[in-house]
Amino acid sequence: MWTTLKAKAAEVADRRIEAMLDADRAADFAVQAGDMRMDYAKTNIDVATRDMLIGMLETTGVAAKRDAMFAGTAINETEGRAVLHTALRNLDGGPVMVGGADVMPEVSGTLKRMDAFAQDVRSGKFQGQGGKITDVVNIGIGGSDLGPAMAALALAPYHDGPRCHFVSNVDPADIAKVLRSCDPATTLVIVASKTFTTIETMTNARTAKAWMGEKVSDVGAQFAALSTSAEKTADFGISPDRVFGFEDWVGGRYSMWGPIGLSLMIAIGADAFHAFLRGAQAMDVHFQAADWHENMPALLALVGIWHNQGCGYTTRAVLPYDNNLSRLPAYLQQLEMESNGKGVSMDGADLPVHSGPVVWGEPGTNGQHAFYQLIHQGTRVVPCEFLVAARGHEDALHHQHQLLVANCLAQSEALMKGRDLDEARSKVADKFEGAELDRQAKHRVFPGNRPSITLAYPQLTPFVLGQIVALYEHRVFVEGVVLGLNSYDQWGVELGKELATALQPVVEGVKTAADKDGSTAALVDFLQKHGV
Ligand code: F6P
Repeated sequence: MWTTLKAKAAEVADRRIEAMLDADRAADFAVQAGDMRMDYAKTNIDVATRDMLIGMLETTGVAAKRDAMFAGTAINETEGRAVLHTALRNLDGGPVMVGGADVMPEVSGTLKRMDAFAQDVRSGKFQGQGGKITDVVNIGIGGSDLGPAMAALALAPYHDGPRCHFVSNVDPADIAKVLRSCDPATTLVIVASKTFTTIETMTNARTAKAWMGEKVSDVGAQFAALSTSAEKTADFGISPDRVFGFEDWVGGRYSMWGPIGLSLMIAIGADAFHAFLRGAQAMDVHFQAADWHENMPALLALVGIWHNQGCGYTTRAVLPYDNNLSRLPAYLQQLEMESNGKGVSMDGADLPVHSGPVVWGEPGTNGQHAFYQLIHQGTRVVPCEFLVAARGHEDALHHQHQLLVANCLAQSEALMKGRDLDEARSKVADKFEGAELDRQAKHRVFPGNRPSITLAYPQLTPFVLGQIVALYEHRVFVEGVVLGLNSYDQWGVELGKELATALQPVVEGVKTAADKDGSTAALVDFLQKHGV
């Protein structure tokens, strides 16, 4: 399978994308899910390649595995767990069985409790010691931070609740800055941690508790917790009526649809949050029902596999022309790289190909004035993924939005078309001549033929954001199945955690660095001499 894919990629490597692009291709290599359009006509994939890629879905049994995931089978085999973030947005779907029991009553019950609590905070029925809550501080990291933080920023035009802050880093600079801007008497602290053991989160939570204790007599009353561990949240002193629980079949990086989304819900309100869930649910339905040729998440994954495993492009840029999506690349880094950054197949054998790509990016047009130079003229090809809305939220400034859209479309066009030497020469022929003209022109050549995908949607509403995030979740799923790995564990984060725990007493000077390697010991020595 992989040899054929690589051979095909090598065979068409020099073919110009532009030469293939007629009106038929533009229609045939675009797919619609609801009112979202994904254009992949500006890739070097032809009909035969697409058929071959879709054949990989059949060979690796993606449909059966997809159905198993939605049905609650324990597809996370290394942890023996189901993978059911889709149940959290199964708003009016049927029962979802895990271990013989329907999980939906519990899911719906928790969502109702979240709705009520969010409404109480927003209306002022739930108060802090100093009155109505003005600020919500979400303390969490990884999946307990990136999802709600990304979405809160993305849906900023819908905020009508208290101010929302996100603290994640154990670096005290993070929490200190946020707490400086809040009044403890009117702040609600939400400790978001699936395990309630993550050292960064628990350290920050204790810092917040001490900060609040200086001014508030009943500190626990202004804390809420989002976790799978009722025991640990109780030990921390948070009353069960402000604990929103979930099950271990919700992976951290897939968790913002449930309790981990509480701060987002408080910011935008339950109705908008439900619209967000409905958008994701619509993408779930599409993913389950659409033929592979029309299936947006499957095609998005296959284009990625073509570029990474076929063509050998090792990174992928996600470029939202939507400033409110500025944290989407960071969110996708966890979603994709923590899920598919694995070197071992499900059966324990080495992966026969590279794992998922490095994902990175920044909003356009900012990136254009920073790193696009490399994307256009660097020696490595970086497949790009553009996201763009037809409309922003600033109606009075719609002309600026049109300029934004023009830039987005221009970039994918420029990447595909490039500029050859003759054209480059004509651009500077009035300034130079002879050998100097050739030399100057060479610097102005764009190789072009660089692939991109464009995801276009009417406006970044809560519903559309739900569609986008679920699209990427299913993209990860499909890529994981085709690569044959487990997208739902994350053993690769463990070693660093263990070593950090062992190093803390060394850094504090309680233990010597004698058993450390020379480099680490010398760094500890340097930092201690400078006051660590
Ligand atoms: O260390 C990685 C990780 O386990 C992520 O997978 C997770 O999203 C994050 O840490 C936070 O975990 P928790 O929600 O349990 O605090």
